[in-house]
Amino acid sequence: MFAPLQNDTFLRACLRQATDYTPVWLMRQAGRYLPEYRASRAKAGSFMGLATSPDYATEVTLQPLERYPLDAAILFSDILTVPDAMGLGLSFALGEGPRFATPVRDEAAVAKLEVPDMDKLRYVFDAVTSIRKALNGRVPLIGFSGSPWTLACYMVEGAGSDDYRLVKTMLYQRPDLMHKMLAINADAVAAYLNAQIEAGAQAVMLFDSWGGVLADAAFQTFSLAYTQRVLKQLKRTHEGVTIPRLVFTKGGGLWLEQMAKLDCEVLGLDWTVNLAQARERVGARMALQGNLDPNVLFANPAQIEAEVAAVLESFGTPHTNLASSGPTHIFNLGHGISQHTPPESVEVLVRAVHAYSRRMRTGMPH
Ligand code: CP3
Repeated sequence: MFAPLQNDTFLRACLRQATDYTPVWLMRQAGRYLPEYRASRAKAGSFMGLATSPDYATEVTLQPLERYPLDAAILFSDILTVPDAMGLGLSFALGEGPRFATPVRDEAAVAKLEVPDMDKLRYVFDAVTSIRKALNGRVPLIGFSGSPWTLACYMVEGAGSDDYRLVKTMLYQRPDLMHKMLAINADAVAAYLNAQIEAGAQAVMLFDSWGGVLADAAFQTFSLAYTQRVLKQLKRTHEGVTIPRLVFTKGGGLWLEQMAKLDCEVLGLDWTVNLAQARERVGARMALQGNLDPNVLFANPAQIEAEVAAVLESFGTPHTNLASSGPTHIFNLGHGISQHTPPESVEVLVRAVHAYSRRMRTGMPH
């Protein structure tokens, strides 16, 4: 049904297989830093206008790939589509973050929550299939969802938050309600990701963007356990091909030993983590993804190149033996790209990752 894959570097690295260079893609690679994205959004009228139209979602997903030799595409959508399908009423006012019309703050609201009918998210699965066709085998397509905890943050707060006061109030005051909501979120996220896999996603990623705001012990109980509940339910293969699963917890560096036990193939790391130490702590089971500070992209080209080299060197000697699996690295930012990023800086970054990581493998002086 889909064209054969021409660049499998990202998928190979996810599965700890040797590659000729370190693959690279960027969280939020399709977005406001690109003038062509802003033009598409103006045509569509709004962010949700883009996300709910498979044609626009396809156009916008491909925009960064037209500019840069990235090694993966990521579905253009948002993590908040799932709570929207639960009936919470998502809106994005221009210049503001997301907002829910009916946040979930009490027992009655939690009692009403259900795993949504996946038909309400048909536009996402249609976008996945449309993007996969348009990619025509160029690079693999990553599907994604928010983690149960990160979704709960938005569902309770009703918007972004500085202090997570409302969601933590529920967590400490009514842990029973929080557990109930997280269980529903986990089952919804699993169904959502499995439907993306059926529609054509070749890898899936969980964004636990706000896992790192939790206290030790609370993280394990309210974030990690429900991430694991999602992973346990995911399809391992589709049409005979392995579907790698990636988990990114912003601020998760303190808990790497515990995250290393998750049922997934790749751990995403933010910029606070030393990659060589992470490699030791995570051990021989998972690939690592990350972790350049997105603000490096505001420096000069030579400085960007030096910071890219430092991240690659921090991960260390690349795995080159084609006969066995080994430690592999997928280059990314430590969090999403800033809307203020100069597009030329991304060109410098992607070229530097490819060139430097090839030299590391051929033993040429860096
Ligand atoms: O990576 C990609 O290119 C795919 C698209 C993608 C978007 N959101 C598009 C988007 C992905 C993977 C996301 C995930 C997402 N959304 C996360 C997890 C990743 C992270 O950054 O931690 C979170 C927390 C959200 C929630 C969200 N969506 C917020 C807080 C906002 C507003 C603030 C912001 O950064 O823009 C959004 C809107 C959003 N999602 C935009 C884009 C391109 C901007 C909307 C616009 O055009 O104005």
